[in-house]
Amino acid sequence: MKNIAIAIDGPAASGKSRVARRVAEDLGYVFVNSGAMYRAFAWQAVQAGIDVTDESQVLTLLADTKFECGECEGVGTVLVNGVDPGEALTEDAVNSTVSAIATYPEVRERLVAAQRAYLDHCNVVMEGRDIGTVVFADTPYKFYIDASPEVRAQRRKAQGIVDSIADRDRQDSTRKASPLVAAEGAEVVDSSELDLEQVVSRVLGKLREQGLVSE
Ligand code: DC
Repeated sequence: MKNIAIAIDGPAASGKSRVARRVAEDLGYVFVNSGAMYRAFAWQAVQAGIDVTDESQVLTLLADTKFECGECEGVGTVLVNGVDPGEALTEDAVNSTVSAIATYPEVRERLVAAQRAYLDHCNVVMEGRDIGTVVFADTPYKFYIDASPEVRAQRRKAQGIVDSIADRDRQDSTRKASPLVAAEGAEVVDSSELDLEQVVSRVLGKLREQGLVSE
C-alpha cells in the first residue's frame, strides 16, 4: 500500500510545527519539519562564510554538501556533511539567511527530492511552505495554518527568538520558485484566536471527514 502524506503549510510562527508534531503523534506518522532542511543548508552557508546573495557561491557550496535525512523516534532528522546542527538551526544568523537560501531553485530541487523520499519508508506529516503545492501536490490531505502578523510576532517574542518574520514572509511569499500560498483545496485554519488543542482538533476533524482517521 502507498504511504500517506499530510501536508501542513503556513507562514513563520503560525504554529504549524507544533500542530504537525501533534497530528503525527496522534496518527503514529513521522513528523518532518522541512524548514529544518533549509535551515541546515543556511547554517552550512553561515559556517562557510559565503555570501548567500551570490548564486555561484551558493551553488558551489550545494555541490559540496551532502544531506542525510532520516528519522528518530517518529521525528525527521537532518545531517549536513555528517553534522547535526542542533540548536544552531534557530540562531539569528540562520534566521536572517534562510529565506534567501530558499529562493534558489537548485537548492529547492535537492531538498524536495529528500522530502519526497520519506514516502518510500513511512507515512508523514510534513510542514513547510510548499508541501501541499509542490512536494506532495497529489495528496488530498492539505492544511494551511495562518495567524495574524501581530499574533505571530508576539509568539516569536514570547519564545525569546529574534526573527524578522515580516521580512521572511515577504521573501517566502514573493519568490519565483514555489512561493508560499495556500494549496488549492487546502483546509485553511486561522490560529490567531485558537490554542494548540483547538487547531489540532480541527485538523483531525477534517481528516475524519475525509475518511483517513476513524471516529
Ligand atoms: O518553517 P521555518 O520557519 O523553520 O522555515 C525556514 C525557512 O525555510 C522559511 O523562511 C522558508 C524556507 N522554507 C521553504 O522555503 N520551504 C519549505 N517547505 C520550508 C521552509
